[in-house]
Amino acid sequence: MSRPISRKHLLRLAGAAGGGLALGAAGYTRLDGGSAASAESQAEPFHGAHQGGIVTPQPKYLQFASYDVTAGGKAGLRDLMRSLTATAAGLTAGKAGNEEFHPARLTITIGLGASAFDSRFGLAARRPPALVDMPAFKGDKLKPELTGGDIGVQCCATSHEVVDRALHAVTAAAHGAATLRWSQYGFVRDPLPGERGGTPRNILGFKDGTNNLKVDDAARMRSNVWVNAGDGPDWMTNGTYMVTRNLKVLVANFLIEPIDVQEYAFGRRKPTGAPFGQKTEFAPVIRDKEPPDCHIMVANPRRAGSEAERILRRSYTFTDGYDAQISNPTGGLFFIAFNRDPRRQFISIQRRLATHDRFTVEYPVPRGSAMYAVPPGIRPGGYVGESILA
Ligand code: HEM
Repeated sequence: MSRPISRKHLLRLAGAAGGGLALGAAGYTRLDGGSAASAESQAEPFHGAHQGGIVTPQPKYLQFASYDVTAGGKAGLRDLMRSLTATAAGLTAGKAGNEEFHPARLTITIGLGASAFDSRFGLAARRPPALVDMPAFKGDKLKPELTGGDIGVQCCATSHEVVDRALHAVTAAAHGAATLRWSQYGFVRDPLPGERGGTPRNILGFKDGTNNLKVDDAARMRSNVWVNAGDGPDWMTNGTYMVTRNLKVLVANFLIEPIDVQEYAFGRRKPTGAPFGQKTEFAPVIRDKEPPDCHIMVANPRRAGSEAERILRRSYTFTDGYDAQISNPTGGLFFIAFNRDPRRQFISIQRRLATHDRFTVEYPVPRGSAMYAVPPGIRPGGYVGESILA
């Protein structure tokens, strides 16, 4: 079952009526930005077998930062990780130096990029084989200033102010030992009226996360997210690999497409999130009813091997100005995914999406890309990366 997607109608003139229409369509989301005071006083645990911010239910706000380490040698990196860990432990408990604040479910997740395993810190021989250099994918328009980095730090909370403060405090803690390479703010859209508690919608208005892995499914997290004992290297056991992709989307170009064209791109109905031929969001996908080149079927072809490939997505929407030439506000998806082995999960999926998925081929422009080894959780008094740096 296939049907040609209509040609993109580029909005070239600032006054084009399409721009207004598109904004009107996007405007149906309610942006109240608020979070209950009771939620803001809640703290997520910092210590445990795994780092926070992975199977923690996803809160509304993100600040992500990637740093280049300037400190010398293994001892320099160890001191930096100790300092970042102490800062993160304080912040997640609601303390920044002498100041107290509502932690707002803040989690801080820290990973080591592939570049941290070059000759500078004596870690080259211990680089996890799964932490490959990210391959180039078709359609990539990567900017070095939005890509890579020695250390990645994901800050998530129910308060915008708190993720900003976390970014500032972590950057201050890195001062003199690491410089900020890039950072990215993100948010999860508010639900539509009547949808509270359901799957959030992405920047294009589609329910996003319907067939994501469920974080409370411990067996699934073990098989698809956590590095198991025996996977190697030992220091990564109970850790995971975090992939980030900065995907710019020309939102208005997508929203001026007729709704059936939009739905064909993803393979799900826009109002309900239902797969084709079904009425409700969580009804099973009927393979023969789906366009073979739609996003969900290319991402998950539902054949032998597909289950092992599945990833935990934890992405955020962003907006960042406009492109005057084509009269489009710019923004997109800051894609974040956790996997046990990105070689046979994220990379395998992304290779197919970049060449066969009509949504990916046509709309998102990958501007940034990174991958980090996220070491296991932290014991009280310990620090992130202790299993490799001690
Ligand atoms: C701007 C970029 C993207 C947008 C707007 C987007 C949007 C969506 C939407 C609306 C769905 C259907 C609902 C759901 O099950 O969550 C979906 C599913 C999915 N997406 Fe994406 N996505 C994007 C990029 C990516 C990338 C880069 C990957 C991974 C390489 C990816 C992997 C998946 C997977 C694995 C599914 C679930 C398929 C299934 O099991 O049915 N997506 N995405």
